[in-house]
Amino acid sequence: MFSLKGQTILVMGASSGLGKSAVECYCMAGAHVIMAARNKDALEAYAKELSNVTVIQLDIRRERSVHKAFRVIEDKGLQVDTCLNNAGTFQQTPLFDQENHGFEEMIQTNLMGTWYMTKAAACHMRKNKRKGSIIQVSSVNGANYLYGERAGYCVAKAGVIHLTKALVGELSSWGIRINTLVPGLFQTPATQGKIKTSAKRQSFESKIPLGLIAQPRDLWGALLFFASYAASRYVTGTTLTLDGGISWGGA
Ligand SMILES: NC(=O)c1ccc[n+]([C@@H]2O[C@H](COP(=O)([O-])OP(=O)(O)OC[C@H]3O[C@@H](n4cnc5c(N)ncnc54)[C@H](OP(=O)(O)O)[C@@H]3O)[C@@H](O)[C@H]2O)c1
Repeated sequence: MFSLKGQTILVMGASSGLGKSAVECYCMAGAHVIMAARNKDALEAYAKELSNVTVIQLDIRRERSVHKAFRVIEDKGLQVDTCLNNAGTFQQTPLFDQENHGFEEMIQTNLMGTWYMTKAAACHMRKNKRKGSIIQVSSVNGANYLYGERAGYCVAKAGVIHLTKALVGELSSWGIRINTLVPGLFQTPATQGKIKTSAKRQSFESKIPLGLIAQPRDLWGALLFFASYAASRYVTGTTLTLDGGISWGGA
C-alpha cells in the first residue's frame, strides 16, 4: 500500500530540513523525486547521494518562476503525481515595528507561494489526467497554538489550512486530493537556534505532552499516507496535526 514505485513526487523546500528528509522518504518508497528550492548548489550536492531524482530551481514567491519550473518538468517528460508544498520561511513580525516588510514576506512566501504552487500543480495534474495529491505544510502556529510576535507567520499558515479546505470542491471534480499537515516543533536547521542548549531543549520538551521534540522522520508516515492513492484515495480537505499534543494543552 505504501510503495510509490512508478510515481513522481515534487518536493518543495528539498534543500533543507523537512523537505530534505521527505526526499529520502519518497526515494526509499520507490518514487522518482523532483527536488525543488532556490539553492541549486545544495540540491545538486544532495542529489549526488541519491538516484532517481531531478533537481529544479525555483522561487515560490514569483509566479513566473513557478510556471517556468513546471515548463522544465514537462519538457523533461515528467508528470507529477504528488506535490508536497513544504517550502516556507519564518521570521518574527512584531506589531510595534515600523516596517511591514517581514509581514509581507511571510504572506508572500508562505501563503502566496503556496497558492502559486497549488494552482500550477493542479493545472499540471488536470492536464495530464493524474489522480494527484497535493500536500500542504502549515504549522501549529496557523491552527491552535498561537505565539507572540509572529502574527505574519500565524496568519499565512492559517491561510494555508483554509485554502486547502476551500479548494476541495474544485479539485475533487478532477480527482485531485488536497490535505494539510500541521507540524509542531521539529528539529531542523530552521529551529536549531531555539533548542541549541540543553536548557532550551528541556524547556520546550516540558511543554509538549508527549515530552519530545520531533525529528524530520516523524513526518514520514503522514507523507507516505497522503502520497499513496491506495492508502488515502478517500481523504481530502483534512488537516493532520503532528505536534506531540502541544495544541491541546501543554503538560
Ligand atoms: N521545523 C518545524 O518545527 C516546523 C514546524 C511547523 C511548520 N514547519 C514548516 O515546515 C516547512 C519546512 O520547514 P523546515 O523547518 O524544514 O525549514 P528549513 O530547514 O528552513 O527549510 C525550508 C525550505 O524551504 C525552501 N524555501 C524557502 N523559501 C523558498 C522560496 N521562496 N522558494 C523556494 N523554496 C523556498 C528552502 O530552500 P531555499 O532556501 O534553498 O530556497 C528550504 O529548502 C516550512 O513550511 C515550515 O514553515 C516547520
